[in-house]
Amino acid sequence: MTDATLPRPVTIVTGASRGIGAAIAERLAAEGHDLVLTYRERRDEADAVAQRCSDAGAKVLLLQVDFADLDAAATVLPAAIDAFGRVTGLVNNAGITGRIGPFLAVPLAEAELVLRINVLAPMILTQAAIAHMAVDRGGAGGSIVNISSGAAKSGAPNTYLPYAMSKAALNALTTGTSKEFGPAGVRVNTVSPGTTRTEIHAAAGRPDAPDERAPGIPMRRPGEPHEIAGAVAYLLSDDASYTSGADIRIAGGN
Ligand SMILES: NC(=O)c1ccc[n+]([C@@H]2O[C@H](COP(=O)([O-])OP(=O)(O)OC[C@H]3O[C@@H](n4cnc5c(N)ncnc54)[C@H](OP(=O)(O)O)[C@@H]3O)[C@@H](O)[C@H]2O)c1
Repeated sequence: MTDATLPRPVTIVTGASRGIGAAIAERLAAEGHDLVLTYRERRDEADAVAQRCSDAGAKVLLLQVDFADLDAAATVLPAAIDAFGRVTGLVNNAGITGRIGPFLAVPLAEAELVLRINVLAPMILTQAAIAHMAVDRGGAGGSIVNISSGAAKSGAPNTYLPYAMSKAALNALTTGTSKEFGPAGVRVNTVSPGTTRTEIHAAAGRPDAPDERAPGIPMRRPGEPHEIAGAVAYLLSDDASYTSGADIRIAGGN
């Protein structure tokens, strides 16, 4: 929980209209964050998440941004700073897998889109966030959490290898920025979910993937979005004041 005597944290959560991002937004609202939430196209669902966060006491700015458009990605931090005057946290959550299939059948255009949305957009947001937060640039420090995946290490063979490549790149973004900007008061960490019950699997072409994969998970079930959100809230909190460069794996034992 946050200290009521301190200014409220202001945290950006990308891809907050549903799934893991929505759960993160609602958890952070309950813990006293004001929020900048982004979505791509599902306005009604985004509005509903924003309303629940407002009902929990958060001030909320909702932004429609398609991260396939990197110029649009570059507008997020300025909009957040305009609205709240400062930003203390960033959660790079929005992501796509691409269609499930063998590596040799992956169209280059799809791989390029996955890398743009999953790597270059978070890089742009991270650059802008660090430029704002770094104490050696007049900022007040901050915390960034990148939502990666176990695919970064498994490579996701026969499934979505470019997605795995994108998440390995995101892990490198965490490692590099945590080391480069630790002296500037910016902590950067990764949360790596295992298979979690969201609509990302339907978009990949296998809606039943969470239940199909359950026998291969030591806890014999997929995760639920709220089970990912707690780790993100922890990493953004003062309880994690000495935690940077970490990767919290939340995957039922995998
Ligand atoms: N679910 C899993 O099993 C799993 C496992 C490991 C890691 N992850 C990671 O967790 C994160 C969230 O995944 P999820 O399962 O919650 O996904 P999801 O249910 O498919 O939700 C994706 C979210 O990202 C937004 N989004 C999608 N494409 C976008 C784009 N081009 N520009 C801007 N926003 C976009 C969506 O907005 P709209 O609603 O407007 O489309 C939505 O808010 C991703 O980074 C994913 O790789 C998920």
